[in-house]
Amino acid sequence: MADGAPIKIELKGVTKIFGPTPAKVLPMVEAGASKDEVLEQTGHTVGLRDVSLQIAQGQTFVVMGLSGSGKSTLIRHLNRLIDPTAGQVLVDGEDIMGLGERALTDFRRARMAMVFQRFGLFPHRTVIENVSFGLDLRASGRAAREESRAKAREWVATVGLDGSSASALPARSPWTPTSCSWTRPSARSTP
Ligand SMILES: Nc1ncnc2c1ncn2[C@@H]1O[C@H](COP(=O)(O)OP(=O)(O)OP(=O)(O)O)[C@@H](O)[C@H]1O
Ligand SMILES: [Mg+2]
Repeated sequence: MADGAPIKIELKGVTKIFGPTPAKVLPMVEAGASKDEVLEQTGHTVGLRDVSLQIAQGQTFVVMGLSGSGKSTLIRHLNRLIDPTAGQVLVDGEDIMGLGERALTDFRRARMAMVFQRFGLFPHRTVIENVSFGLDLRASGRAAREESRAKAREWVATVGLDGSSASALPARSPWTPTSCSWTRPSARSTP
């Protein structure tokens, strides 16, 4: 990542509470109640608590944590599969909660893609084809599709997957992608 690269993605104080009345439970979470206390007293689940981060253009950003710690919940905020209970999600400085239905569709089609894990994979597409799916949607013509496949191969190689596993269908590959998400480089960006 080049020094001084612009911030692509920013989370500011994002909290996500799952349950029927999350706004009512928010003050308790903000006051520091534990996940167990919140669940026991309200039946709500704290998915994320006050998460702030910045991801610069070109940066590889890895989120690690125990099962149930909120990795998938966090990633789903980046394309608004999940809306935050509190806080902001900014992409290229824009609060994506402000996107209307049409703008959100364009955003998902052109600027953000996500590779799901296991049951969310297309069983009839190879691992590489699953990874490149978001880019393929935009690719018109053979050259563009080749480019998106090359990009997918590059990222798959980055996580150490060899060629034959990447070319297999997910069910036949010893490796299947876990959820990941990325923004598309803009025209002026470096990949
Ligand atoms: N739709 C939902 N409704 C209620 N609770 C949810 C929902 N999605 C996630 N949770 C809860 O939010 C917390 C974070 O879950 P999440 O799936 O984000 O964890 P994770 O870090 O991705 O785990 P894993 O490593 O198992 O994939 C967990 O307690 C989970 O049970
Ligand atoms: Mg997960």
